[in-house]
Amino acid sequence: MTLLWDPALYRRHDDHRARPFLDLVARVGATAPREVVDLGCGPGHLTGLLSQRWPEARVRASDASEEMVAAAREAGVDAELADVRDFAPGPETDVVVSNAVLHWVPEHRDLLARWAAALPAGGWLAVQVPGNESSPSHTIARDLLASDAWAPRLPGGLAAYGVGTPEEYARLLASARPGARVDCWETTYVHPLTGDDPVGDWIAGTTLRPARAALTDAEWERLRADLAPRLRAAYPPDDAGTTWFGFRRVFAVLAAL
Ligand SMILES: C[S@@+](CC[C@H](N)C(=O)[O-])C[C@H]1O[C@@H](n2cnc3c(N)ncnc32)[C@H](O)[C@@H]1O
Repeated sequence: MTLLWDPALYRRHDDHRARPFLDLVARVGATAPREVVDLGCGPGHLTGLLSQRWPEARVRASDASEEMVAAAREAGVDAELADVRDFAPGPETDVVVSNAVLHWVPEHRDLLARWAAALPAGGWLAVQVPGNESSPSHTIARDLLASDAWAPRLPGGLAAYGVGTPEEYARLLASARPGARVDCWETTYVHPLTGDDPVGDWIAGTTLRPARAALTDAEWERLRADLAPRLRAAYPPDDAGTTWFGFRRVFAVLAAL
């Protein structure tokens, strides 16, 4: 399956995007996992951090995008092309990580419950999803794509992700795996961005991906030009030219006892 992710565009924000991954994995207490799985590994640079943390573990990575799998392989990660929906923890899968992926999967609650129930004793499940779908960066893009000018080019518009609250994921995981230790929280990272259209550049590689896939190059340029002043008005730079971009993320970690 090709999801038309652009690894180069996505990696432009590496530093900002790595931090939630590190914050997530910091809450995983596994000491000697046999198998560590990175679901939706993207370009693979963060998978490498899992291998560094657990050098003895067999680290498996997968992604549903051919472009991302190719980029991960180029980065030395032996990624497989696979959809998270088809994943099930095996008897030695002691750590499952999925960072910034499950918001693209509407049925992710069912997957989380299934994975939590199937983990071996002592296993860990750690996921992070962006929780910013009601922030201006997303509502502005959704509203514009639902307007008369753009709706015919993207029927159905840009769907909201349907991400839950930390409390909701905590309840879900606790009931899927009675007795497990569950640790859920949210963090808003405030990213200092620079450039003429920094928020547009940020969402171009993620939120706007379905629009990018549906539009011609010329239409894509026109969409970016339509969006830029709207995003600029919602996220004005400060006097030094920095745009402070708040980005809420939701984390859920389960330790199967
Ligand atoms: C925002 S990137 C995150 C990549 C990596 N986990 C990271 O933290 O840098 C989202 C990734 O999820 C992948 N993805 C989206 N839907 C997927 C699915 N159903 N199954 C597997 N991967 C999926 C995309 O191809 C993309 O590489």
